[in-house]
Amino acid sequence: MVLFNQFCKINQEGLETIVMKKPSSLEMIQQSVKTCKKCDLCNTRNNAVPGIGDENADVVFIGEAPGKNEDIHGEPFIGTAGKRLDDALENAGLTRSSVYITNIVKCRPPNNRVPNDTEKLMCSNYLEEELQIINPKIICLLGNTSFYSILGGKEISKNHGQIVYKNNRVYFISFHPAATIYNQKLLDVFKNDIKKLVNELQKIKNKN
Ligand code: URA
Ligand code: SF4
Repeated sequence: MVLFNQFCKINQEGLETIVMKKPSSLEMIQQSVKTCKKCDLCNTRNNAVPGIGDENADVVFIGEAPGKNEDIHGEPFIGTAGKRLDDALENAGLTRSSVYITNIVKCRPPNNRVPNDTEKLMCSNYLEEELQIINPKIICLLGNTSFYSILGGKEISKNHGQIVYKNNRVYFISFHPAATIYNQKLLDVFKNDIKKLVNELQKIKNKN
């Protein structure tokens, strides 16, 4: 996998130095993900599902793992949960193309089970690279897997709507949109959270 490109440069004294280039582009990560075989999920997937969206996005959304539809089409959040996410984005004045959407693991676990620790670890470099390249102003963690994997947090129902600062990054905690599918009340809460996220983003932008 391409993480950082190294190349050699001859300086004025004729000495060779190794120069680190900026992290590879999102397209390169997408290509690496599509052919990745670093964990067992590659054996059962139809398509790996790289993140999608704007390289200059202010907001990155992180879900758990691709589901059935995502696995078929190779795109994140395009099934029923994705529709809920799209609705909440639109309700808050955001469009899918203006944000970046990705997952903790990029391949569908069989029967949509929660990804295990090995799978999450093996896949974590891709997410880290995505975040380094995009450098978003705020990162929205969608649901327990995302919240736990990145912040070690539990109980979304108690923590949703909160901001967490960690390692120079700003996180916003919210429900997974799938949780809202059969629960209209939760859908309203989720939509409110995403509005709050946009508010927080505005505050961050005003400070800069
Ligand atoms: N659920 C997720 O967590 N991610 C997707 O991409 C789709 C459903
Ligand atoms: Fe590679 Fe991640 Fe897919 Fe595992 S889940 S095969 S680490 S892209």
